[in-house]
Formats: sequence, C-alpha cells, structure tokens
Amino acid sequence: MQKITTVSEMQALAGSLRAQGKTIGLVPTMGALHDGHLSLIKLAAQKADVVVVSVFVNPAQFGPSEDFNKYPRDLERDAGLCEKTGAHILFAPTNEEMYPKSYSTYVTEERVAKPLEGASRPTHFRGVTTVIAKLFNVTRPTFAVFGQKDAQQAAVIMKMTADMNFQVGIVVAPTVREEGGLAMSSRNRYLTNTQRAESLAISGALAHAKGMVANGERRVDRLVAEVTHLLGEKRRIRIIYVSIVDSRTMEPAREVIPGESLMVIAVWVDEVRLIDNMIF
Ligand code: PAJ
Repeated sequence: MQKITTVSEMQALAGSLRAQGKTIGLVPTMGALHDGHLSLIKLAAQKADVVVVSVFVNPAQFGPSEDFNKYPRDLERDAGLCEKTGAHILFAPTNEEMYPKSYSTYVTEERVAKPLEGASRPTHFRGVTTVIAKLFNVTRPTFAVFGQKDAQQAAVIMKMTADMNFQVGIVVAPTVREEGGLAMSSRNRYLTNTQRAESLAISGALAHAKGMVANGERRVDRLVAEVTHLLGEKRRIRIIYVSIVDSRTMEPAREVIPGESLMVIAVWVDEVRLIDNMIF
C-alpha cells in the first residue's frame, strides 16, 4: 500500500492509473477506522482495480462547538487496517494541503441537505460536499463508497454528483452494527458503559418500528410516537429528531412506502450526539 499526502502526487498517480484503464474505487473517511469503514473498503476491493482510502478529518464540516479538536486521530493504526483490508493507496493530506490559506470555494447542495442533520448542523453538509468534490477531482474515482449509517450524507452526495455531472458512481453500503445493535461510529468511543447501554434503545426502537411496518402499520405519526416513547424511557437520551422521510429526497413521508421510506433518528446521549436510521 502506498501512502500519499500531497494533492499533486495523488492527482498524478490517479491520472496515470486512469490512463492505463484501471478502475479506481474511493472510500472517503475521517479515520479512527472501525468495522463499518472496513466493510466499505472490502466492498470497494471487490469492484475496483485500485482502492483509494482517504483519511482526512475535514475541518469544514465541523461546527464551531463540535468535536473537531477532540476527534480521534491515529493514522498509523488506520494505515495498518487499510492495508490489511485491501486498500492500495492511502491518501492522507494535511489541512494546509486541502485548504491552503487563500482557500475560498464551497460546494453546496441546497435541498436534500436542508432538513434533519442540516437543520441542527447548518454548515455541516457544505463542508461534506466541498471535501467530497475536491476528493473526486484529486483521486479521479470510477466510483465512491459511502455508508447507509449516514443516510442523509449519502443522499446529499448522490444529488451533488448528479447535479454537478461528476462521472463517479455512488455505492451505498449497509450499516455495520455492534453486537446488540448499536450502529458503529467513531463517536461511540466517547460513551461510558451506562451511556452505551442506554444507546441500545436507538437501534431497538428502529427494529421495533420496522416490526410494526412488517405487521402492516403505515401511519407515520403512529410509528414516530412509538419510537419517541421508547427513547423517552431512557434517562440519558434527549431526542433531536425522529422522522420518516423519503430516502432519496429526505422530505417527510406522508405514509410509509416500504422500500422507499426511511426512519431517521438523532439523539443526544448526554453530551454525545448519535444518529441512526432504518429503511422500512
Ligand atoms: P466517517 O464518519 O469517517 O465515515 C466514513 C464513511 O464510513 C461514511 O461513508 C460513513 O457513512 C461510513 N460509515 C460510518 N459508520 C458506518 C457503519 N457503522 N456502517 C457502515 N458504514 C459506516 O462520513 C464521513 O466520515 C465524512 O463525512 C466524509 C464522507 C469522509 C467526508 O469528510
């Protein structure tokens, strides 16, 4: 596995690989890799000649009061995991390399990015779409892999890719969960044992709602009320939103359409912000 830290080197290598007719699969990450990330790398390795994993804690997607400074960083460990999992290139640029002092251009998607995460984190998706557009131009991927865990992020990136005519396929991989159901996240490491135990209610409530849909429930208010009730039983959990939306547009669903509707949840577990979702 080759480690690259500069944009110019990465662009030159990607250009020569594309000229040789190789397909490139990109897996963008912020590092602190866990089995969720590794599942994306494995999927990319099945489909592409060359797998590029980017590790970059993107300052542009963190709000002023968010955890940019304390976000876990361990590039040595991440590099080992990437290599073991089948990555060929690790692209790990510095902030200065991605956002030099004179930097002033941002990419914004203005519809799918508005509700839910966009409402509680107003500049978050602007940072995500900007860095992904840059990574597409730097690594020249044939396709890029994203996780269903961040369903709105995947939907926003699909929309940006279509709107900006990027010739990049977007692949969405299923959410990888811990034993017990908690969706894997780099932020889970902030949880104490008690908080972790209460966090199981999130995937539990989603599974319960999915069961209700399987038994014929289609009323959005009924499902949201049930999930709100289940989460409300946990002392440390504060709901940010519980909503049923169209999985492509993130617009509120009027009734559940199996295969299209998505239940999305964001909560505070004390000071830790967690999200999860489930397709009905
Ligand atoms: P990060 O949180 O590191 O996640 C990188 C990728 O891994 C994303 O596509 C995310 O959806 C996916 N992922 C995270 N947890 C997962 C899980 N439990 N199962 C499956 N996939 C999972 O998301 C970002 O970084 C950034 O916003 C990024 C896209 C890299 C742009 O900076």
